[in-house]
Amino acid sequence: MSKVIAFAGKGGVGKTTVATLVVRNLSRNGKAPILAVDADPNSNLGETMGLEVTSTIGDIREDYMKDPQGIPSGMDKVNYLETLVEQALIEQPEFDLLVMGRQEGQGCYCMVNNILHNFTEKLSANYKYLVVDNEAGMEHLSRRTSGNVDMLYLVTDYSLRGLRAVKRINQMLGSLKLNIGNLGIVVSRGPEDLSKAFLDEVAEIDLPISAVIPEDPALLEYDMERKSLLELPDDSLSVVAIDEMLKETCPA
Ligand SMILES: Nc1ncnc2c1ncn2[C@@H]1O[C@H](COP(=O)(O)OP(=O)(O)OP(=O)(O)O)[C@@H](O)[C@H]1O
Ligand SMILES: [Mg+2]
Repeated sequence: MSKVIAFAGKGGVGKTTVATLVVRNLSRNGKAPILAVDADPNSNLGETMGLEVTSTIGDIREDYMKDPQGIPSGMDKVNYLETLVEQALIEQPEFDLLVMGRQEGQGCYCMVNNILHNFTEKLSANYKYLVVDNEAGMEHLSRRTSGNVDMLYLVTDYSLRGLRAVKRINQMLGSLKLNIGNLGIVVSRGPEDLSKAFLDEVAEIDLPISAVIPEDPALLEYDMERKSLLELPDDSLSVVAIDEMLKETCPA
């Protein structure tokens, strides 16, 4: 069965960056095939990976709903939708990327949703690792058939507010139908020595710190030059921190 690695946390704290660097690590360490899933409608996992996203699952659903009769002749609905999902999959040598895009809108899309859902589940089963960059409420993960998450990283910046969001998400997990193997906190842009106030708050949440990622100037540079974070050198500060983190916490 595929191992599922997922990320959650408050907006803007570094989830997509961390998810990208996890894909970077796995793909360079012979962990292929990997499926990166962008499950955050406002996200940009494609951008951080330097990939152009032309279609999302949300687009496929919207387009189909606008013109349900527009199926090419000789194809049935299921076939047609499945072909579109295959086309939306961005294939790279070491990993593929699937972008979920817009969430279900109003109106009954149940049938289309079921077809899309079943097919993405079937596709996912072909991979050794699924790396899922989540929306805040983690709806995507909750909808998965197995509900299995092998490792959930709760990402925060170096602030008590970020940590409180981690705490809330951790509390909310109980109400989701998820079967989570391990949980860890990832502190992004943290100093070498975390303050007592911060560590006290972590102790209250009662989860281990999986990594502290230092402020990495290379991330800004790559963003400004529109370079893929997958191309960051091995010795960049953020890469070193993620590689270290995965030595300890990557599901085998
Ligand atoms: N360790 C770091 N050092 C320097 N900059 C960082 C670091 N981590 C993240 N950033 C920067 O912070 C910004 C937000 O990061 P990112 O997009 O990964 O956050 P996010 O949690 O995915 O945000 P959103 O909730 O909007 O999806 C980006 O510009 C990123 O380059
Ligand atoms: Mg993001």
